[in-house]
Amino acid sequence: MTRAISLHDVSKAYTRDARVVDRLSLDIAPGEFLVLLGPSGCGKSTVLRMIAGLEDIDEGRLFLDGEYGNDLPPSERDMAMVFQNFALYPSMTSRDNIGFPLRIEAPHADPAPRVDATARMLGIEDLLDRFPGQLSGGERQRVAMGRAIARHPSAFLMDEPLSNLDAKLRNHLRAEIARLTRELGVTTVYVTHDQAEAMSLGDRVAVLRGGVLQQVGSPRAVYSLPENVFVAAFIGTPRINLLRGLVRAPLDGAMTISLGKQFLRLPEPLSLDHQLLRVQQGREVIVGLRSEAVRIAGPAAARTGEVALTGLVEHLEFQGHEVLVHFNTGSRPALVPELEAPRPAPDRPARRRREGGTVLERLRERAGALRAGPVVTPDAPARPDPASAFASASAEPRVPGDFIVRTTPDIRLRHGMQVPLLVDLAHLFVFDQYGRRICPSPDRLPDLEE
Ligand SMILES: Nc1ncnc2c1ncn2[C@@H]1O[C@H](COP(=O)(O)OP(=O)(O)OP(=O)(O)O)[C@@H](O)[C@H]1O
Ligand SMILES: [Mg+2]
Repeated sequence: MTRAISLHDVSKAYTRDARVVDRLSLDIAPGEFLVLLGPSGCGKSTVLRMIAGLEDIDEGRLFLDGEYGNDLPPSERDMAMVFQNFALYPSMTSRDNIGFPLRIEAPHADPAPRVDATARMLGIEDLLDRFPGQLSGGERQRVAMGRAIARHPSAFLMDEPLSNLDAKLRNHLRAEIARLTRELGVTTVYVTHDQAEAMSLGDRVAVLRGGVLQQVGSPRAVYSLPENVFVAAFIGTPRINLLRGLVRAPLDGAMTISLGKQFLRLPEPLSLDHQLLRVQQGREVIVGLRSEAVRIAGPAAARTGEVALTGLVEHLEFQGHEVLVHFNTGSRPALVPELEAPRPAPDRPARRRREGGTVLERLRERAGALRAGPVVTPDAPARPDPASAFASASAEPRVPGDFIVRTTPDIRLRHGMQVPLLVDLAHLFVFDQYGRRICPSPDRLPDLEE
């Protein structure tokens, strides 16, 4: 039997001053493969351990198949966990390791038929008589999976089970986990910080940041309509280009988004989404352009909806089938603090940005920002403003190659070349200064096949 797992406003704090999981609500359907994705320390393992019953739930409720389950001991939850550090008993063969939980559950039953069936499923029949010390990392992980599968649990809880393995083996086992869980039809909650893994495995992906759920949806939905800039930046390779922009909407002229030295002129008649940007007139926004939204071509080649920019080639990343070109477009990148590599400190004193709008407007914005999470203001103050979401690189030495475009390896480019670019505005994302998506409009119904 497979089970439904529901979390209602679940919170957890290890110390009095900070919640590591904050009012998390999630409904996981029977047989679903849900991936919990987020950066290190965001609370993924804590959530998994609360579902398993290995960690107490401080606030909120857990339901297993609709029944209140907060106080159910782990042994009665009928779930199998697979960890990153596949702890096998070193003095037992693979056969005994896989059979061990079966012997505990049913001391008088012969575990052999189930162990053999599981080994066949995983293709590890040859390894059954070996000890863990005689197995490679990948083989050990397969035996650990076998131990979870043989029990026929009603849910699998997997905590970064592949992160100790090399890339090739990881891809191989990833496909195997997808196949096995589909065949078994067992509800699976899978924790990872690797977005590619999350996207390739999950029926749905739940993105966590600092213990707060940012978005949950199909891989397609979280990629195509990220609710905020954190999700947009966390999902997708190469990373979405995030630039600071300023909306200009004169009454008698074309609407533009200024990117510092260049601007995007929104084509007329304005689409509904672009019309809605008018209210941002004079405000700082964050422009998000995934690499597929930009191509290298001159203005003469522009199709409807494409506008021209230029970029200076700063770095070329040869990937074999494609090249990632890092351009300098003279714009200021918007940085999402948790996702940035350490950067050099600003060389001029930080200055606090003045907030615009009425007090009520500012309060509303701050309330909204809580969901998107804390962000950092432009001109990077030493202490991040708890209500704001981004750091701007304006006060820092210029970040080389602020804008990444994918291209085929046959295009000949050299460092220092000024290259014409075309931006497809149908793929334009705009986020407000707190990181919430404002374009495409959050109210728009996604035209996605879910
Ligand atoms: N037993 C504990 N006591 C105190 N703090 C803890 C404990 N376990 C975890 N934490 C803290 O809670 C936060 C969330 O930890 P958790 O292990 O859930 O993160 P995670 O998302 O799984 O991270 P990673 O990807 O690095 O495994 C971290 O800041 C961690 O330091
Ligand atoms: Mg963890």
